Formats: sequence, C-alpha cells, structure tokens
Amino acid sequence: MAEPVKKETAVDATPGVTDVIKKDASTTTEVEALLDVQVDRGEPILQVRNLVKHFPLTQGILFRKQIGAVKAVDGVSFDLYQGETLGIVGESGCGKSTVAKLLMTLEKATAGEVFYKGQDITKLSGRALKAVRRNIQMVFQDPYTSLNPRMTVGDIIGEPYEIHPEVAPKGDRRRKVQELLDVVGLNPEYINRYPHQFSGGQRQRIGIARGLALNPEIIICDEPVSALDVSVQAQVINLMAKLQDEFNLSYIFIAHDLSIVRHISDRVGVMYLGKIAEIGSDEEIYEHPTHPYTQALLSAVPVPDPAAREHRERIILTGDVPSPANPPSGCRFRTRCWKAEDRCSTEMPLLAIPERFRGQDTPAAHESACHFAEEKDVVGAA
Ligand SMILES: Nc1ncnc2c1ncn2[C@@H]1O[C@H](COP(=O)(O)OP(=O)(O)O)[C@@H](O)[C@H]1O
Ligand code: SF4
Ligand SMILES: [Mg+2]
Repeated sequence: MAEPVKKETAVDATPGVTDVIKKDASTTTEVEALLDVQVDRGEPILQVRNLVKHFPLTQGILFRKQIGAVKAVDGVSFDLYQGETLGIVGESGCGKSTVAKLLMTLEKATAGEVFYKGQDITKLSGRALKAVRRNIQMVFQDPYTSLNPRMTVGDIIGEPYEIHPEVAPKGDRRRKVQELLDVVGLNPEYINRYPHQFSGGQRQRIGIARGLALNPEIIICDEPVSALDVSVQAQVINLMAKLQDEFNLSYIFIAHDLSIVRHISDRVGVMYLGKIAEIGSDEEIYEHPTHPYTQALLSAVPVPDPAAREHRERIILTGDVPSPANPPSGCRFRTRCWKAEDRCSTEMPLLAIPERFRGQDTPAAHESACHFAEEKDVVGAA
C-alpha cells in the first residue's frame, strides 16, 4: 500500500471536492505538453465532475423509438489524488464498470467532465486523446475472458506497443515484455505460453503486466480479484500495492465488497444506483460511516473477532435494488432505507459534508448524501 496521502479536507467546503484545476491549451502540441507534466504526490490527477451516462432504451424493429434510458451513471463527482488508491464499492449494477469505461474514454459520456491534469478528456480527440489513453490503463475483472486464448503471453502483454510504438521500438519489445513478466512475479521464460497454461492468479498477473506495459500513471482496476479464490486475492492485491510504490501509480480500485478494498484503499467511495452515496478516507468510511447504505453494507462484512461479532447489529436491507431505468424520486436509497421520511421522496440529498458536522473536527465530517446522516455503531471488518 502506498504511503497515506490523506488530503487536508476543508471541513467547511461543500461539496468537499476541490475546485477543478483547469489548464488552457489551444493546440494539440500544447495539450500534449501539459499531459507530460508530473503531478505532485497528493495533488489531484483526475477530477470527475457530474459525470452522467444514460443508455437509451429503444423499442421497435424498423423504427426504433427511444422509450426511456438506463441511468447507469447519474451525476458522479470525485477527485483522484496522485499516488493514492481510491476504492469504489457498490452492489452489482450500480454503475461501477460504466464509470470505469467513461474514465477510459471507452464510452462517451452523456454529460459531465473528466479532467486529467487539467484537460477535459471527454472533449479530446486524435493525438491528445491517444496520449491520455496511454497514461490511463485498465485491469479487468475476469482474467479468464479478458485474455485472448489464441495469443501468446508475450503478444498479449506487448500488444499495447502496436498502438503506441513510441514506448518500445520493435527490437526492444521482447526484452520489455520479459521484464514485465518478472515485475509481476512470473518467469520471463513463459513468454511463449498461452493463457490456458496459467492459473487464475497468474492470468491476472498477465493482465496487470499488460496494464503496466505503457508506463501509465493511473490504473483503473475493475473488480480485479473478484473472480479469484480468496487465498489468491491477497497475493494479487499485495502485488498491486507493491507495484503502486514502485511505479508511482494512482489506482481506482473497484469492488462489490467493502472488505476487499479496505486493505488497499486510502479513500473509498460507496455507489448506489448511479450515484455516490458516501465518500471519505478509509477511517471515515469504515469506522464512522454516516450513510445508512454504507452502514448496512458494513454490517454484512464478516468480523473475525467473535467478541465483536456478538455485539454487532446486522442491518438487513429489504427489497431489491430498483431499476436504474426508473430510479426512485428524491433519495435513490429511500425504498430500502429504514430511516426514510417524507422529505426523502421529494428532495434529493446532495453529496456534501452534512450540515450538523460541518466545521467540526470529527471523522463524521465527510461527504455523505443523506438528509439525516449520523453515525451508527456498526462493527466493521478489522
Ligand atoms: N451498454 C449498455 N447498454 C445498456 N445498459 C447498460 C450497458 N452497460 C451497462 N448497462 C446497465 O447500466 C447499469 C450499470 O451497469 P455497470 O456499470 O456494469 O454496473 P456494475 O459494474 O456496478 O455492476 C446496469 O443496469 C447495466 O445493465
Ligand atoms: S436521505 Fe432519507 S432515504 Fe436517503 S439515505 Fe438518508 S434517510 Fe435514507
Ligand atoms: Mg462491473
């Protein structure tokens, strides 16, 4: 894990995300020069503002008519600081992978902005976009399906050099790939083997080596260990933490389980139905959660200590997650929230430091999108 890069969050700021650092550039060459600048540790490297992705729902075969939209991501804002790991957690279908794809510019945003080193990457194209794509890489969830079974490991890891030959000239690629195999703890002599000759954990190491090939600054890890055995998960997470230090990387680490991200995250954002419900440092989220959804998720995390287990209160959420095509009015969590009141159905809570904690020097003073945010004694995972 990286040295903590805890930001001094201004407790009075609402919303707590810092202002966007915008940098003007009029030509592609100027943009490229700005994208080359190193960001100091602890400064924002990626600033996401009001990001929206609606997938149109259509009907009809000949004349396709839009009848609605799946609001997969519906106004997400956060900062990623250089050198940190930001965990993003939430149940399946809440929009985590869509956020990842938007940040990777694999999907086009419906609205909102993503500033990388002060440039809104949703508006870039051509050479400038290519430079961004080199610097933001992804590691996918399922090492069984994300690696082409007909390609050798050497070709898989070296494939990014076909698009970015400037990073490694042809004659040097084999050596680079072998170096990468070594870096992720695999034997460099395996370069001519095929994915099926490796275990799940080894395949994820291949995926990580590929993610590192272009010397990126940011790696977005979309449930990188969810498909692996529990015993292998820790090894892969430890490897990623080691690589973060070694290569000065910033991570966005996506998971559907709060316990997995705890060990690697400096900060954690909890997502529900396309929005962030609560975001803060790992201590704030795990020890002092103020949003009922986070509290419910935490109450379900296994506790190893039997004494603590006896005292914990398990919050059972009733009802299913509503459809993102038709989210509840007001607070999206209200149909499953035990604290919901009339106000929750008419007024959407904003992600901000709750008024009652504003200006106070308490770990409860972090951003939480709840009208009635308060601490609750839930015993989280150790
Ligand atoms: N290409 C797409 N077209 C239509 N709906 C999509 C598409 N991709 C994702 N969705 C929908 O968007 C919502 C969020 O999906 P996703 O981002 O994959 O969630 P998560 O990664 O948190 O499980 C889901 O309801 C999913 O069905
Ligand atoms: S705003 Fe209301 S419904 Fe939403 S989490 Fe808070 S108490 Fe529950
Ligand atoms: Mg996903």
